[in-house]
Amino acid sequence: MSDDQTEQKKQKLNRLQTPLGVFDILPEDHLYYTHIKKVVRHRCRQSGFRRITTPIFEFTDVFQRSIGDATDIVQKEMYTFSDRKDRSLTLKPEGTAGVVRAYLQHGMKELPQPVELYYIEPHFRYDRPQKGRYRQFWQFGFEVIGELDPALDAQIIQLSHKIFEDLGIAHMLSLQINSIGCPICREEYITQLQNYYVGKERSLCEICRERLVKNPLRLLDCKEEDCQILAQLAPKLNMYLCKECKEFHAKVLEFLEATGIEYQKNDKLVRGLDYYTRTVFEFWDKSEGAQNSVGGGGRYDGLIELMGGASTPAVGVAFGMERIILNMKKEKIEVPSKDDLHIFVAQLGDEAKKTCLNLIWELRERGVKTVGALGKGSMKAQLRLADKFKVPYTLILGITEVRENTIIIRDMAKGQQKIVSFDTVIDEVVNLIGEKNLDKYSPGEVVYG
Ligand code: HAM
Repeated sequence: MSDDQTEQKKQKLNRLQTPLGVFDILPEDHLYYTHIKKVVRHRCRQSGFRRITTPIFEFTDVFQRSIGDATDIVQKEMYTFSDRKDRSLTLKPEGTAGVVRAYLQHGMKELPQPVELYYIEPHFRYDRPQKGRYRQFWQFGFEVIGELDPALDAQIIQLSHKIFEDLGIAHMLSLQINSIGCPICREEYITQLQNYYVGKERSLCEICRERLVKNPLRLLDCKEEDCQILAQLAPKLNMYLCKECKEFHAKVLEFLEATGIEYQKNDKLVRGLDYYTRTVFEFWDKSEGAQNSVGGGGRYDGLIELMGGASTPAVGVAFGMERIILNMKKEKIEVPSKDDLHIFVAQLGDEAKKTCLNLIWELRERGVKTVGALGKGSMKAQLRLADKFKVPYTLILGITEVRENTIIIRDMAKGQQKIVSFDTVIDEVVNLIGEKNLDKYSPGEVVYG
């Protein structure tokens, strides 16, 4: 049975489950996503980057033209469909193409350059699912468009490194860097590379035999053993770089040295998207190498022109959030949780219920995270529920308490309770929880025009 048939059979049996390669983000995992998003937003804000969100789907041409016809993404991995008017649309497989399309569509070349944008978005690729590789995955990425300077390449790597430090995984990653030159010097190299493989075709894997014609650079980063042996002896790209590309790369490395970030020169790193020029880099998991690269990027000085704009240099990078989370979990990094509740409100009788409706919200307004069981449960059932919520305190309001304008505070760990005046209960609770633990929310200052 083919892979597709097996998959179809599985899907038939599990029609009401998620399709292969996509997943629910359950509350425990959301803590990681929230934490990563917070770190990214904070570092980007500090660095003057502004957030952009491009649509989940675009005209297929946006991706096809930018990523390249011969790439794995365009050939095999795009979710492409026709709409009701028979226009071809594609779920975004990566972020750069959409950002460049937006840069052009909104005339961002009129803004002070470079335009620095970041995104945190889901992306879609029909990849073969396995650990760290999914069909819907989240990326955060940065794009710096409109200025040509090797310091920008180093700067974007520095920003990435800072985020990894914040997340506690910088020491697990190794930065791999290379230059794949400009279209002019690369052309000469590709001819030499193709010549080198003449007569060796039979030793290549099936995919590489195709690549030899369609996308020869990718021969260098094939994971098959025989292909790797041949790639090892192939002519080296850096021998063919033109003077400008060589100088540019030397400068990038010089600036990188100044940041103190360790890197490895990797002359076989070529990346899987066609738009790159000169600098390419990836962050590899030190224990897994090229497999499951956590992120990658580079310079794409020709892309804006290719998409219909004026010649405009640019550099960017994107990271896979699921792969980052895998690393954080491997390193046993705990992320802060704000989900823990403070108070459970238990009540008996209609009068108590009415009083509780407001009490619950007054507590919440003060920053006390509060839940209440306003259903019909007995007091015993409600206290059992309070235990399940793992709250430190439960407030109990019965018919007697309503009549006497009191309320019971129960310390769940000690199993002790005390009766307090209803009028002071909120202050008492705030004291017990502690001012610094309250969950206060301020939507910020709104300036009305
Ligand atoms: P990319 O190398 O195709 O580059 O993807 C960047 C990262 O997204 C990968 O290193 C990986 O962590 C994650 N990723 C990719 N595919 C999957 C998948 N199927 N499942 C889970 N994670 C995945 C780009 O997308 C470029 N747009 C990066 C860039 C931005 N270059 C310049 N600017």
